[in-house]
Amino acid sequence: MTFTLDQFRLDGKVAVVTGAGGRGNSIGRAYALGLAGAGASVVVADLNLEGAKAVAEEIVAAGGKAVAVEVNVADEASTLAMGRAAAEAFGGVDILVNNAALMVDISYDNCETVSLEAWNRAFSVNLNGALLCARAVIPSMRARGGGRIVNQTSGGAFPAIGLYGISKLALVGLTTTLAKQLGKDGITCNAIAPGNVTSDAGKLLVPDDSPFIKFLEMTCATKPRGEPDELVGALMLLCSPAGQWITGQTVHVDGGWVMRP
Ligand SMILES: NC(=O)c1ccc[n+]([C@@H]2O[C@H](COP(=O)([O-])OP(=O)(O)OC[C@H]3O[C@@H](n4cnc5c(N)ncnc54)[C@H](O)[C@@H]3O)[C@@H](O)[C@H]2O)c1
Repeated sequence: MTFTLDQFRLDGKVAVVTGAGGRGNSIGRAYALGLAGAGASVVVADLNLEGAKAVAEEIVAAGGKAVAVEVNVADEASTLAMGRAAAEAFGGVDILVNNAALMVDISYDNCETVSLEAWNRAFSVNLNGALLCARAVIPSMRARGGGRIVNQTSGGAFPAIGLYGISKLALVGLTTTLAKQLGKDGITCNAIAPGNVTSDAGKLLVPDDSPFIKFLEMTCATKPRGEPDELVGALMLLCSPAGQWITGQTVHVDGGWVMRP
């Protein structure tokens, strides 16, 4: 097989992107637009239905195919309904991007003091949510001859310090496990670990005048902060025929931050 750039095309594929309708400039929005631009029909799924509708409308206005679906990824019945909505709209699912997460709205308390309620809430969305969404679409992927699952982890998991990082490191474990268990069905599972991204949520967490930016400047090999669009190339590789032999991997898109100090 000779490589051509067409192997990055996703024409005829159906992609579900969770957490794609949140705060205006979000990573999920960039992912959804990127997948649609490569030819996929996109299910824009989010707890925030109005936000999801806005992103779906943006895709359709640009000539793509998209529908908005309300989902709570922490709720099994809701994820199953999302899978059914994808099947009704576009016939099934080939690609799942588990991007929904609690990041800003999570406890940054110490492990010694964080409430068990906050702990469980973080895991119910950031880990269980990815599992439930995967379970909701795996039968469809299998029936269609294969699929792609991409889990959005974080540079904050390497090493994990705090509840957010722990939940995102657990997601790496889910990634390697699903990769191993689904590979024979032609389903790959990989993760993307972004560094500090200037999405609206990222800027809430790390404002432009935060001292953390100085630390990033000292430790990143290249520029310390990236824009949501700078993650899309990695997603395209993991979702398209170009990346069909890659599974169980975590791709760090972070300006080399993972190599700190
Ligand atoms: N921004 C960064 O610097 C950064 C860095 C590393 C990783 N990430 C990860 O990238 C992803 C997107 O981040 P973002 O910066 O675009 O943040 P964001 O807050 O804009 O996106 C998160 C989305 O998840 C949705 N969501 C939350 N709980 C949900 C639930 N129970 N069911 C369905 N949807 C739910 C929110 O409505 C929101 O749209 C997250 O997984 C985040 O952890 C972000």
